[in-house]
Amino acid sequence: MSEANSNSANASAVGTSAKLMPSGYSSFLIRRAMPDDIEAIAHVEIAAAEAEGRLAPLDFSWLELCDVWHKRMLSGKFEVLVAVQGTNLLGFIGIIAPRNRDGFIQAIYVDPKYFRRGIGSALLAQAELIFARNRCPRVVLYVEPLNHNGQRFYRRAGYHYINKNFRHLNIWVKEISSC
Ligand SMILES: CC(C)(COP(=O)(O)OP(=O)(O)OC[C@H]1O[C@@H](n2cnc3c(N)ncnc32)[C@H](O)[C@@H]1OP(=O)(O)O)[C@@H](O)C(=O)NCCC(=O)NCCS
Repeated sequence: MSEANSNSANASAVGTSAKLMPSGYSSFLIRRAMPDDIEAIAHVEIAAAEAEGRLAPLDFSWLELCDVWHKRMLSGKFEVLVAVQGTNLLGFIGIIAPRNRDGFIQAIYVDPKYFRRGIGSALLAQAELIFARNRCPRVVLYVEPLNHNGQRFYRRAGYHYINKNFRHLNIWVKEISSC
């Protein structure tokens, strides 16, 4: 059975191995990122950052982003999940989920070709399982003030703006009890 036409789950959660999620059109797999995913992660971030309403352009080249994600993955501090369909990387989320402390979403990016197919929501849901497992009281993230679509995405997932900023970025949170 190929990933493209399967709608059935193949594992319980990312915490064990991987999960197949139905999307609007076909299925994709969510699993932990591996070093071989880094080049595609950097490509997706650069493409999707165009839709982020950034006040300043992303100031990393593709090569620099590869290095950033390589270091993050090696640090042991970050958990990175990817949504894939076959060899195609559709999106990713990078989080920090310290035990009994607030969790943080560093980045969530979906390849613009696959926007609005539930991929971002599925990545976020899997990340929230990790936050809950690590008993993070809240999940915190920063959003560009002009990223109205990203804000809609987070609002729909139960996050809210707390009227505080980090530099120019809006701080949004979600209580873990509602995750
Ligand atoms: C934000 C992002 C991760 C959403 O990923 P996605 O896979 O397209 O999102 P989903 O399909 O799971 O959308 C879930 C819901 O969020 C809202 N939403 C997402 N994208 C939206 C858009 N462009 N316009 C309006 N609402 C949107 C909708 O309510 C949507 O549900 P619906 O399609 O049933 O109406 C993706 O658009 C992206 O990578 N954007 C650029 C980077 C970014 O902004 N990251 C987040 C801020 S750090």
